[in-house]
Amino acid sequence: MRYYFAPMEGITGYIYRNAHHKFYPGVDKYFTPFLVPNQNRRFSYREMQDIMPEHNNQIHLVPQILTNQADAFIWTALELKQLGYDEVNLNLGCPSGTVVSKRKGSGFLAFRDELDQFLDKVCSELEMKISIKTRIGKDSPKEFYELIEIFNKYHLEELIIHPRIQKDYYKNTPNLEVFGDALAISGNPVCYNGDLFTVQDYENFVEQFPDIHMIMLGRGLLMNPGLLNGIETHTVLGKVSFRQFHDTIYHGYQETISGGKNVLFKMKELWFYMGRMFTNPDKYLKKIKKSEKLTDYEIAVSNLFREQDLIEHIPSISL
Ligand SMILES: Cc1cc2nc3c(=O)[nH]c(=O)nc-3n(C[C@H](O)[C@H](O)[C@H](O)COP(=O)(O)O)c2cc1C
Repeated sequence: MRYYFAPMEGITGYIYRNAHHKFYPGVDKYFTPFLVPNQNRRFSYREMQDIMPEHNNQIHLVPQILTNQADAFIWTALELKQLGYDEVNLNLGCPSGTVVSKRKGSGFLAFRDELDQFLDKVCSELEMKISIKTRIGKDSPKEFYELIEIFNKYHLEELIIHPRIQKDYYKNTPNLEVFGDALAISGNPVCYNGDLFTVQDYENFVEQFPDIHMIMLGRGLLMNPGLLNGIETHTVLGKVSFRQFHDTIYHGYQETISGGKNVLFKMKELWFYMGRMFTNPDKYLKKIKKSEKLTDYEIAVSNLFREQDLIEHIPSISL
């Protein structure tokens, strides 16, 4: 099995990715949170920091692009090629209202002629590997059967499918029936993404789809960064490495983000997921959430690690 770490805007930037790779190696590909080509044809400072080869030299990274303009996609991809990347990923999954209203992300799925023309231009002009990360439709899963005919016209490195529609956001459960059809009909290699949070989820999934060879994990890895060790060797997350992993991210943010409040904002977002690995975290998570100073935060985190054990298995959950 090949394992990919899903792109997660605001969370899986280079500080997080490098810490993850250091303490929990085994991810075959990481994807950047989406890069948005702008009018000036320049990456923002934050985007540049995230894709700089010097910040990613230990890991296999695929940059993801969010646009519906073929020229912008091509320009961005060529810049990335100059930096040494040989694959780019198109975001056709983002469900956010502001993105969708601009016909981007999963909003682009509703404009299938335009999408076809976009892919025609991009795939014929770019000499790079192109992969797509997509939902199965904007308003209805039925749209997928038209979409797959479009995708099948092109040679893609892989088609990563998160089998929800835009309207689902992250609610409801992934549509495994449509995913099964996708696997049967796709002319391109298919990667599955969606709601695999535990070793058990993974095992159930591969039992149902024994032909799948690529899996992308997102929130499951945010909750349990050692999930791949669980999947591969049934080892459970250890406290010492989890603490070191946390500290590496925390110090990385302190070195690169100005203002303690901004550092805390990023760490609190992470604790929404990581907190679930502890037996009785609520009291501590409240303290973490309330902390306004780095010192308060550090005390709350130390108490949590000292006083609570890690659980062996996350109960099945919905996020
Ligand atoms: C906070 C957050 C940020 C995300 N950012 C991106 C993104 O930048 N690009 C993208 O393709 N998907 C993004 N996603 C979607 C994830 O990559 C993934 O498809 C989704 O979480 C489902 O996988 P999971 O159930 O394994 O988490 C984001 C999801 C979350 C929760």
